[in-house]
Amino acid sequence: MKTRKITDNLTWFGAIDWDRRLFDSLIPLPDGTTYNAYLVRGNEKTALVDTVDPSMTDVLLRQLEDVPCVDYVISNHAEKDHSGAIPAVLNRYPDAVLLTSDRAVNVLVDSLNIDPQRIRVVKDKETVDLGSRTLEFLYTPWVHWPETMVTYLQEENILFSCDFLGCHIASSELYVTDKGRVGEAAKRYFAEIMMPFRVHIRKHLDTLSKYPIKMIAPSHGPIHTDPTFILDAYREWSAEEPKNLVAIPFVSMHGSTAKMVDCLVENLIDKGVNVERYDLADSDIGKLATALVDAATIVVATPTVLGGPHPLAAYAAVLANALKPKAKYLSVIGSYGWGGKSVEALAGMIPNLKVEVVEPYLTKGSPDKTDCDAIEKLAEDIAARHKAL
Ligand code: FEO
Repeated sequence: MKTRKITDNLTWFGAIDWDRRLFDSLIPLPDGTTYNAYLVRGNEKTALVDTVDPSMTDVLLRQLEDVPCVDYVISNHAEKDHSGAIPAVLNRYPDAVLLTSDRAVNVLVDSLNIDPQRIRVVKDKETVDLGSRTLEFLYTPWVHWPETMVTYLQEENILFSCDFLGCHIASSELYVTDKGRVGEAAKRYFAEIMMPFRVHIRKHLDTLSKYPIKMIAPSHGPIHTDPTFILDAYREWSAEEPKNLVAIPFVSMHGSTAKMVDCLVENLIDKGVNVERYDLADSDIGKLATALVDAATIVVATPTVLGGPHPLAAYAAVLANALKPKAKYLSVIGSYGWGGKSVEALAGMIPNLKVEVVEPYLTKGSPDKTDCDAIEKLAEDIAARHKAL
């Protein structure tokens, strides 16, 4: 993979990971990802902003063969998909200094065994003069780790945002061209790793609003030449107001719970409520996470297995608890064979969710008309709450 010129003083380095299908052994990557690094050349100094995943170190080192000197390596974020090649780059350039935030130092030293003598902490809003080009570092903690920062190239109004404002797409396109595709991937990405940190994100968006930004160059996904597109999307996603949407993660063993879900979906739509339904036995959890960005209500639908919720429903509940979505209401429906405590067990798995519980409804065996009437009542209760949003 060859490097790509962005401006006279700025070049894309990095790797396209077409085949990666899982991140953190958790997050599905249906479209792969990229690890973007950027080389900024001033009249006097050269800086490399972020590196690549350890698996792509050789790609980056080959690209750097034509770069005789790197004075600074900047670590915006210590997670290894961006910092993993730092040791090799520092080894290649023995005089290079690693610039990073105060909270990143221990992480970089502990996880990558970097010599602390090679590291210089930059403060929030500190600048580094490259000669004709100036880099400003802005602390943006908790997007999505505590040490995160972004780097702003003052003379060109370009923001290197690392994870922030990025998305997982392996693409040959250096710049955003298909906003529909990138917007969907960016929302999924926000849902999977940024959603729990909405308060921090809103604060950082306010900080960035004071800077003229012509281009946002993230470390995953294509470069934004229309920054308003992604900044406005982040404002919407990080706001606390949910939408008229019910997310229904469900699992059904013999069809009874699925019938109840169908009944609920039909009645919600009839009452003007939007629905996203996910069969947990065959679902991409990234799609469920994406629905949780907007949903005002979550209804978990599960049969009872071994006295509790189906393990896949339990997994969805644990995931939702970790992502801390903005949902205001929650309910549970499902079918059981001989009894159990699904509702109590699920309730214990979601302490982070500040939700009102709308009366759950469980039935024994295959649902009949009485059960559908009860579910219609649940749909009415949810619709009434959504009207007040
Ligand atoms: Fe792309 Fe948090 O690493």
